[in-house]
Amino acid sequence: MSHNRAIPQHVAIIMDGNGRWAKQRNKERYEGHIAGVESVRAAVRAAARNGVKWLTLYAFSTENWGRPTAEVEAIMELFCRTVMGEAEDLARQGVRVKIMGERTRFSATVLDMIEHIERSTAEGDRLTLVLAFNYSARREMVLAARSLAERVSKGEISADDIDEELFAKGLMSSGMPDPDFVIRTSGECRLSNFLLWQSSYAELYFPEVLWPDFGEEAFDKAMAEYARRERRYGLVTEDC
Ligand code: IPE
Ligand code: IPE
Ligand code: MG
Repeated sequence: MSHNRAIPQHVAIIMDGNGRWAKQRNKERYEGHIAGVESVRAAVRAAARNGVKWLTLYAFSTENWGRPTAEVEAIMELFCRTVMGEAEDLARQGVRVKIMGERTRFSATVLDMIEHIERSTAEGDRLTLVLAFNYSARREMVLAARSLAERVSKGEISADDIDEELFAKGLMSSGMPDPDFVIRTSGECRLSNFLLWQSSYAELYFPEVLWPDFGEEAFDKAMAEYARRERRYGLVTEDC
């Protein structure tokens, strides 16, 4: 049962450290976010090259709305600009893009961009790039619980029908495999409300490098780190 496959099927990254990267250079925080886009491109290329099938990037948490308005607006603008600029190239690379998060609080422009990128890359079958945008793991679990409760009260299912599989189907990640490997850059060792259900048995990795400095080489190094891990899923291995 203990899969020790050297290549993770699903890599999830908490892209952290943009603000610190900018501060180190006496720049504004949003300039760190701009620099981080190049690392997104690098991660997409490196993931596809390594044979990773799913890449989830944590781009904006529900908590991030609490940042100064100017920074939030800069991130929303950057999202729109990047989506416009990259859609064609992503489609050419065979990358399918999905946005994971509650579709609330967004401007009409951002909603249009979400629809545009999902539609124009829908045929991609080399890599699925999931952008967690206005995402909260606790919120998605609350929403899943709510919709199951509604189905029980309508008599569509009984409470006993609720198991891990059915619960997972109610999450925003429905249809995606669980992440095998969760990376958080910048040396912070926490999950900050990211894929809490799905990461139950993920391997975790916390490189010191700030997100704008996380290039293809750093991605390859992370893959080598993953290959050294032994996943046991609560079982015992023969050599222990
Ligand atoms: C991550 O970088 C990007 C987002 C959360 C949008 P930060 O902006 O959190 O950078 P630091 O952690 O302040 O350095
Ligand atoms: C997590 O980073 C969210 C994203 C990377 C999008 P934060 O920088 O917002 O998290 P905390 O505040 O350090 O926990
Ligand atoms: Mg941060």
